[in-house]
Amino acid sequence: MSLLVRSIGELVTNDPSLGDGSALGLVRDAALVVEDGRVAWVGDASHAPATDRVIDAEDGAVIPGFVDSHTHLVFAGDRAGEFAARMAGEPYTGGGIGTTVAATRAASDGELRANLARLRDEALHQGTTTIEIKSGYGLSTADEVRSLRVAREFTAETTFLGAHVVPAEFEGRDDDYVSLVCGEMMKSALPHARWVDVFCERGAFDGDQARAILLAGMGVGLLPRIHANQLTHGPGVQLAVELDAASADHCTHLSDADVDSLAGSTTVATLLPGAEFSTRSPYPDARRLLEAGATVALASDCNPGSSYTTSMPFCVAVAVREMRMTPAEALWAATAGGARALRRPDVGHLGVGAVADLSVLDAASFVHLAYRPGVPLVRTVLLSGEPQ
Ligand code: NIG
Ligand code: FE
Repeated sequence: MSLLVRSIGELVTNDPSLGDGSALGLVRDAALVVEDGRVAWVGDASHAPATDRVIDAEDGAVIPGFVDSHTHLVFAGDRAGEFAARMAGEPYTGGGIGTTVAATRAASDGELRANLARLRDEALHQGTTTIEIKSGYGLSTADEVRSLRVAREFTAETTFLGAHVVPAEFEGRDDDYVSLVCGEMMKSALPHARWVDVFCERGAFDGDQARAILLAGMGVGLLPRIHANQLTHGPGVQLAVELDAASADHCTHLSDADVDSLAGSTTVATLLPGAEFSTRSPYPDARRLLEAGATVALASDCNPGSSYTTSMPFCVAVAVREMRMTPAEALWAATAGGARALRRPDVGHLGVGAVADLSVLDAASFVHLAYRPGVPLVRTVLLSGEPQ
């Protein structure tokens, strides 16, 4: 079955060998052909071949599906009261994670699945076609395993985050909890996870604990990524580079040495502007990272505490307005950047051979994603070439 997307006013391919030769590989007045779920042809609309089916983009822009490389979507309950208190002046400390752990443990699998399905649908209809989902609100072997099982029903990009915080029942016994995470919990999580993550932060896990947990995961075949330098400066970014982690996430408090290390590595700096927005904190310095040559991704960090948004267009708009990324840099970071952060060369671009995950926008240009913040511009989403 072949499909033609025609009358594309502006096609973002993220393939610099196409179109204007920029990182976005912009092709004007374009068409795109999908065969067997993959991009089979991209070019000038006037040369498009005949196909079985046709979608008319009506001169709108077409962009690769967003690759949201960092979410925490397995949870129950919400923390609207905590958010309201923060907006009235309370600081964010991550201390509310325990509230969500209690609600998640009390929820049935069906409740967790229904909440996740609702959030995944929200994300999908805003153009997210690849999504990473972490555990981390279970924090017992059984609750982490069921969190990952439910997450796996929705994505192959599942991440074991048993090391989110030390749960209340292990208070004062951090080392015992780290042993549990590195041993029985990791072993039980393994069949359901691709990645291992640690919240490396004051009040969560220090550099030595984070190294032990990531090495234990890598020892059984999980790939490392890390919550690094979110609330304070710490060793997380250096650890990420040392272990060749796919991604160091947050990167809000960086030294010059951290920026240089990221720039000289294949570790992606994943920025999560929804978290700074929702905690009213200073944004990470995206320009410093970009100018040093680091690879930057944008992700939602969707979770009920620090960033309760599924919207990648919102994250793009905030990154442009508040972090001084250009619209082109922000779109690349939310698509190709996310794909690099998940080590997925098959998504995040629309070159020939890519998975045909894309959005047709109700706008003449991708720039409108930042220029028209809060407006639902995603008209049609294709997943492997299938309209959703
Ligand atoms: O990425 N930093 C740690 N974890 C989440 C927040 C979790 C929460 O507050 O529930 C984050 O921001
Ligand atoms: Fe997070």
